[in-house]
Amino acid sequence: MQQAQDIVQQGIIDIENCADLQQLEVVKARYLGKTGSLNALLKTLGQMSPEERKTIGAAINEEKNRFQAALNLKKTALDNAKLEAQLAAEALDVTLPGRGQNTGGLHPVTLTLQRIVELFHGMGFEVADGPEIESDFYNFQALNIPVNHPARAMQDTFYVENGDVLRTHTSPIQIRYMLEKKNPPIRIIAPGRVYRVDSDATHSPMFHQAEGLWVEEGVTFADLKAVFTDFIRRFFERDDLQVRFRPSFFPFTEPSAEIDILGEKGWLEVGGCGMVHPNVLQNVHIDAEKYTGFAFGIGLDRFAMLRYGVNDLRLFFDNDLNFLRQFN
Ligand code: PHE
Repeated sequence: MQQAQDIVQQGIIDIENCADLQQLEVVKARYLGKTGSLNALLKTLGQMSPEERKTIGAAINEEKNRFQAALNLKKTALDNAKLEAQLAAEALDVTLPGRGQNTGGLHPVTLTLQRIVELFHGMGFEVADGPEIESDFYNFQALNIPVNHPARAMQDTFYVENGDVLRTHTSPIQIRYMLEKKNPPIRIIAPGRVYRVDSDATHSPMFHQAEGLWVEEGVTFADLKAVFTDFIRRFFERDDLQVRFRPSFFPFTEPSAEIDILGEKGWLEVGGCGMVHPNVLQNVHIDAEKYTGFAFGIGLDRFAMLRYGVNDLRLFFDNDLNFLRQFN
């Protein structure tokens, strides 16, 4: 039947022109849908005689099958193309280098702190700490530095609200610990950040100290010299390291000394120390007639500079990864 042949001829061209499955659906509806042209043709069979209906009906059905076959073929082709596009879009190039995850490392000052704490731990010292914002009482008064006393000028202080300060040293941790613990024996190592209005190649407004304190019956300056010398020789791994205790002044120790070590370029100051002042022991309600003690404060950053051969303190606080990576 010519008419059916013409319709299907056009239909196959329409199928071929489809770019995607959606367009194909539209074409399918146009020919095979309820109001589609092939269906409309089939409806005309009703007005025909039984013989006509048989031959023409068979011819129309044949054309319809031809259309359906072309449709199926196109659908398979479009399905495959769609899958292929999807696979291409999601493709992983397994030969690309991985994005990776770098392992972190510890800051040289942290490494130094850990080493110092470890060495004192081995000598029976317990780790203690305290807040970085301190009251005037803990940072100064209890350490025998009264209000308006000239000794305050030794430390260029950052004052914050209501008379509190950014602690200028780790010594207030001594006071906190002794008030809390009350009874000797007391043996602590207390590392932490401290602050002073000071800034150049060897001074930073924020730096690190570690405080040592040993209070017990019969503790003498000889113990201080022995413990500290032993520690510092272990720290620098040099049995012959020369250590010097140079008379000095701190309000909270009597007698007091600066600790120097002999380096390649001469004597180098690494901390302060002394026998805990009786006034300090009284301030924390420890019997100064019965107990004695020694204390020292060392600059952790200075220790890190010496250990790693760093000549500018500010390098530690610039957060330059190229610098920091060298220590791990
Ligand atoms: N706190 C002193 C300072 O920062 C150091 C020190 C600690 C001296 C303990 C004596 C005893 O300068």
